[in-house]
Amino acid sequence: MIAIFEKIPIQIHEDSKTASKKIAQEIAALIKDKASKKQNCVLGMATGSTPKTLYAELVRLHKEKGLSFKNVITFNLDEYYPMKPDAPQSYHTFMNKHLFQHIDIDPKNIHIPDGTIDKSSMHNYGKAFEKAIEDAGGIDLQILGIGLNGHIGFNEPGSSRNSITRIAALDNGTRLANAYEFNNISDVPRLALTMGITTILKSKKIVLLAFGASKAEIIRASIEEKITERIPASLLQEHEDCIFHLDQASASKLTRFEAPWLTGQIKWTEKLIRKAVCSLAIQLKKPLLMLSKEDYLNEGLADLLEKHGPVGNINLRVFNGLRDTITGWPGGKPTEEVPRHPERRNPAQKRVIIFSPHPDDDIISMGGTFLRLAQQGHDIHVGYQTSGNIAVSDEFVMRQIDFAVEFDGNFSIDKSRASKIWDDAASFIKTKKQHDKDTPEIRNIKGMIRRTEARATCRYVGVKDENIHFMNLPFYETGLIAKNPPTDEDVNIHMELIQKIKPHQIFAAGDFADPHGTHKVCFEVMFEALKRLKSANDPSVADCRLWLYRGAWAEWDIWDIDMAIPMSPDQVLEKRNGIFIHQSQKDGVVFQGNDSREFWQRAEDRNAETAKLFDQLGLPQYAALEAFMRYEY
Ligand code: F6R
Repeated sequence: MIAIFEKIPIQIHEDSKTASKKIAQEIAALIKDKASKKQNCVLGMATGSTPKTLYAELVRLHKEKGLSFKNVITFNLDEYYPMKPDAPQSYHTFMNKHLFQHIDIDPKNIHIPDGTIDKSSMHNYGKAFEKAIEDAGGIDLQILGIGLNGHIGFNEPGSSRNSITRIAALDNGTRLANAYEFNNISDVPRLALTMGITTILKSKKIVLLAFGASKAEIIRASIEEKITERIPASLLQEHEDCIFHLDQASASKLTRFEAPWLTGQIKWTEKLIRKAVCSLAIQLKKPLLMLSKEDYLNEGLADLLEKHGPVGNINLRVFNGLRDTITGWPGGKPTEEVPRHPERRNPAQKRVIIFSPHPDDDIISMGGTFLRLAQQGHDIHVGYQTSGNIAVSDEFVMRQIDFAVEFDGNFSIDKSRASKIWDDAASFIKTKKQHDKDTPEIRNIKGMIRRTEARATCRYVGVKDENIHFMNLPFYETGLIAKNPPTDEDVNIHMELIQKIKPHQIFAAGDFADPHGTHKVCFEVMFEALKRLKSANDPSVADCRLWLYRGAWAEWDIWDIDMAIPMSPDQVLEKRNGIFIHQSQKDGVVFQGNDSREFWQRAEDRNAETAKLFDQLGLPQYAALEAFMRYEY
């Protein structure tokens, strides 16, 4: 049944690391096989965030297992245009940094489109690039990533099936998605040199990698929808030896997961029943209790009816389940025993840790719940996992130092000290180039700014000063967007805090779908700490529930929600004012991403949408709802 939907073979891995290891091994086997036959191995290379772990693994195989790249010839998919090879954002720089400089490849075997070529000679350049691939015997294995719009290489939607290596215009969305590599969006080139679709399809084998929930929808469309030039990756359906390597998050929108009842026999769990029925109601725009037998039958849910019907019972079961997730008592209702309440009644006053990856995620993602927990008398601790120092603008830093200089002067404190910091910072910032690391002093000040904002938020909510914990996880402290891999030190910092507090509840950011971001790493190290404590039977977690909120970008699917905290219009405003305290993150932030809304707007829209969905399904109407998923560890 799955084959009816999926037109490209896929392999789903536990996570991006496992996937990258597996693919690296396949590539290594191919290189060795070719070497044993005295042949060259021609590889097509991609850049972007996705293949970084794959390249790291190839480097490891070279360094630790003696894998040689002497017989390897590479052709890169693309390069920005115009772009000097030694620019920090060039794909030449990327490839050297992540792969070439660490392995024994012969430099003359490396081919990366030249972003300095004159436009007038582009036609010939493209042809020569194609000819070089042919002369090398064609690409044995092409590695691909995929853009959020389905681009492969820089073949944006609308690229012709017959396109070859050429200059192509970048979509605005692609420029926004890649803006993190540049100072701001206007610095991102509008053009790129890219292999064409035909060039890619001529490869003998194609391996596409996609990780993270953000890719899930385009992966589904590429694999399950009709072939169309509007989704360039769907053209890969024509290739005879193409496979998509996915992690669970990027595969999650495939019909086999979204609607497994359509692709085969399934075992109906409570969550799956909720998912099937809620999806049906959302699709038909009907309240849950208005769904009819015909609705179920028309949408492939006969099996559910047969096993758990009649229809009225299933509707009510799902309705009641959702209704029971709603509570105004996120720490449990102390005054009475409410059956099926998401949280337990006792102890009435709970010790709570809120883990916040950046210094504002607590108030942005769960501000309403944060305020309620405080108002209901729980003992709240906040663990700010990273300093968040890279997200403060230089202008904002200068404003704060200016204040310090004036402050010192006014109170006749040693003014010369503050003035020196001002002079050093001003001269550094004046000559600062893209990708330059801030001086430790400036980084320190940026961290300070974020700490003062976090403390002010805690005061606003009503958290005691001694309950604020700045964890400064070491993996984050690179001063750059790229972070270090997490280590035991990051895990230990969590374990120590948990052991000290002995919490009854932990709230943490559950953005585990995003494979490279800070949130995901923060989740992983926190989760590892919990697992280690649990397996050691540590009493600090003997009575502790883990609740996950989603980050600033997305909300849980309604069927995954285990606790929903309602907010009145006044409470929405109270939360908004709490978010406003983070002034360094207001009115245009350093890392805006491709969403122009401010954080408070994103949070409000998201909470209002969740409330609207509950309302549409026939549940009570609220101004906003914050949602949490209970997670076992
Ligand atoms: C890069 C390339 C692009 C990327 C795609 C995904 O050489 O050709 O198609 O593969 O934009 O980028 P990431 O992996 O950063 O999501």
